[in-house]
Amino acid sequence: MSGAGKYRNVVSLQTPQIKLIMKLAIVGATGLVGQEILRVIDEHNLEFSDLYLVASSRSVGKEISFKNKIYQVKGMEEAVSIKPDVAIFSAGGDTSLKWAPRFAEVGTIVIDNSSAWRMNPKHKLIVPEINAGILRIDDRIIANPNCSTIQMVLALAPLQQKYGLKRLVIATYQSVTGTGKDAVDQLMQERSGNEGNGVYPYRIDLNVLPHIDVFMDNGYTKEEMKMVHETRKILQEESIGITATAVRIPVIGGHSEAINVELEEEFDLEDVRDLMASAPGIILEDDIDNLKYPMPLHAHGRDEVFVGRLRRDESQPKTLNMWVVADNLRKGAATNAVQIAAYMMKHYLVY
Ligand code: A2P
Repeated sequence: MSGAGKYRNVVSLQTPQIKLIMKLAIVGATGLVGQEILRVIDEHNLEFSDLYLVASSRSVGKEISFKNKIYQVKGMEEAVSIKPDVAIFSAGGDTSLKWAPRFAEVGTIVIDNSSAWRMNPKHKLIVPEINAGILRIDDRIIANPNCSTIQMVLALAPLQQKYGLKRLVIATYQSVTGTGKDAVDQLMQERSGNEGNGVYPYRIDLNVLPHIDVFMDNGYTKEEMKMVHETRKILQEESIGITATAVRIPVIGGHSEAINVELEEEFDLEDVRDLMASAPGIILEDDIDNLKYPMPLHAHGRDEVFVGRLRRDESQPKTLNMWVVADNLRKGAATNAVQIAAYMMKHYLVY
């Protein structure tokens, strides 16, 4: 395989001063997720032998400054010809469908942020804290789950292990950053009094849109159905009942989710708090006496998922309510993708 045997450094995002010595391409480097990937790499001091910043033909030749170095944006053909060891894609589903197989053919491990490969049974859908163990040396296109799904399953996995999951009723409150930089522009334009043609069908500032991604034949949106199907695939349990309402709100720092969880077994609320406090990647913020609960304002720029407002559903036994917040550009996209890259590096690109 490309790059096999060249690398010696073990990687975990929790370890400071990590050296990731690989040829890394970021496809969609000019976009919101691409830029966030650069910030994650920078903050965790991940080092690469070579870094290639890739975007559409519109951006080829543009200069991006990163860690005191100027990188010229490359096009897709040139990026394939470089045969990167790992390419993290955040350039939309069509780009992934067309180009991920081309990179895979030359031996690149593609970690894809779009929905193009997530439900394809040949490709793995990974949240490293939960299921990185299923990755193998010959995985060439690895799917990063939907942002709303990642933060939710991270909080659900410990509950699934200890009590079993029966049914989830979810409402999301999602940041405009999930739509991309044009959506942030729309919000800012509206906020400064200029209403024009935006990416959403209605204004988003001072509004709430119960509509994320396209509507499907069953009346749900694709975003809502992603949460249903992706959750079952990651948690490897097809029988979990799941129903979701996905809502866009005029917020930037992250996605919030109200999740009603019916468990298979009776639980103790303090045990659930302990479980969350000790789960990898989760920070428990559940102290209502001191007004401590998760908010996008505080989650912004953080890699962790924040869980709070834990309380019993008094209308039904074995049922819990929780509030889960994360920066969708971080754990919902960039952080998760970089963690997958780090995992593959550690396990399969090491001597
Ligand atoms: P570009 O800036 O050249 O359009 P966002 O989701 O924030 O809007 O970002 C989308 C990212 O995907 C951008 O980096 C964008 O590059 C990139 N992109 C869009 N279409 C393509 C394409 N056909 N090939 C490669 N990159 C693309």
